[in-house]
Amino acid sequence: MVVLYQKQARMSSIINKTHEQIRSDFPILRRQINGFPLAYLDNAATTQKPHAVIDAVSHIYAHSYANIHRGMHTMAHEASELYESTKKRLLSFVNAKDNYSVVFTKNMTESSNLVAFSYLSTQKQPQRTIILTSGQEHHSNFLPWLRQSKAKGFAVELIPTLPNGDLDINFYRQFVSFNSDKIALIALSTASNVFGILQPIEDFASIATEHNIPLFVDGAQTIGHVPTNLEQVNPAFFAASAHKMYAPAGVGMLFIRKDLLQTMEPYILGGGTVSSVTETDYVPKDSEERFVGGTPNIEGIAGLNAAIAYLEDIGMEAVVDHEQMLVTHFQERAREFSYLRFLGDIFHKNHLGLFSFASKLHPHDIADFLDQKGIAVRAGAHCAHPLHNLAGETSSVRASFGIYTTREEIDRLFESIRDIHKQFGIT
Ligand SMILES: Cc1ncc(COP(=O)(O)O)c(C=O)c1O
Repeated sequence: MVVLYQKQARMSSIINKTHEQIRSDFPILRRQINGFPLAYLDNAATTQKPHAVIDAVSHIYAHSYANIHRGMHTMAHEASELYESTKKRLLSFVNAKDNYSVVFTKNMTESSNLVAFSYLSTQKQPQRTIILTSGQEHHSNFLPWLRQSKAKGFAVELIPTLPNGDLDINFYRQFVSFNSDKIALIALSTASNVFGILQPIEDFASIATEHNIPLFVDGAQTIGHVPTNLEQVNPAFFAASAHKMYAPAGVGMLFIRKDLLQTMEPYILGGGTVSSVTETDYVPKDSEERFVGGTPNIEGIAGLNAAIAYLEDIGMEAVVDHEQMLVTHFQERAREFSYLRFLGDIFHKNHLGLFSFASKLHPHDIADFLDQKGIAVRAGAHCAHPLHNLAGETSSVRASFGIYTTREEIDRLFESIRDIHKQFGIT
């Protein structure tokens, strides 16, 4: 699904724009925080928005705002067209060809809950009692399955994590072949939001396909950072959030393989989901719109359309090149800090621009100190309690990069980490 280019083989090069141009596309990067230029290193939580996205949202409000699929007037047609063309653009962005439908949800979290309800809770094969996932998933790719285990008696089984942060594919292979007729769903992410290590999801997927088991892929941490290739992986479901790919919040996406569409119950019933209703019954739409109950986030979808165009203009290969240059720089600088405990193998060959660490200081104190220097990071358990338990930490500090991140910002991060530890006599 995702290709990480050989780090040494390619230099960081943004093809259509210089890196300065990219930075100037993001007005928020001109902000000063506590007297320092903002260094935004919290991109795994959410990304900032370029002018192109901000303008697309304000354009629709100023020129062409109407509800979709509900009116006959000009602006209703324009809004519907934008909505449908965004679906097409998104399908092409993830190389989904025409065997997928895309449903706009609120976020990745709503997408996984939709699958738990619409697919799992109504599945008609009672012998399939196992949900196979891992302990390194974000709560959004874990709690919906746990709830199904409580409500419907599914057993949630976990693929072990190896010391370097990889999922144990040998365990997985054996478990799946031994239990192939008992597994209802496999749910895995392309990369954990704590380890930042890309998993070989295509290998996990081909084993699932071989045994005809549906795979739900959480692509939240990779969609804006590495190319996604659904044709190659062919999962039953793929979910992500627009706000992690430089688009507005409030728009999620769920790609559903078309052969599964008709087997699934509508999720939120109401306007837009049905083809007919009588006083006593209703018929859901055949199309994916059966899952879009009520008015969707039309302006957010306009912003998503612009964000995809923006990323395509830069080119996802160039995004990878730039972020891998930052990863190498971060890894080199991190060698100087023996008192930092990194979660997962920081030198893993498939590391993304996302690193979590702990030390003798509380992560909140570190994050607070960094904020005083204008550096935004995340501190806490990052909605991944089982993974922190696994790593033997209660919480951590997470620094995560985006297309606008610079080496200098990483240097500032490390200098500030050094300063705060020095204040407490840790060197
Ligand atoms: C790996 C992963 N999955 C799911 C989510 C949930 O995304 P959202 O909050 O947009 O629903 C996140 C959010 O950080 C994430 O990192």
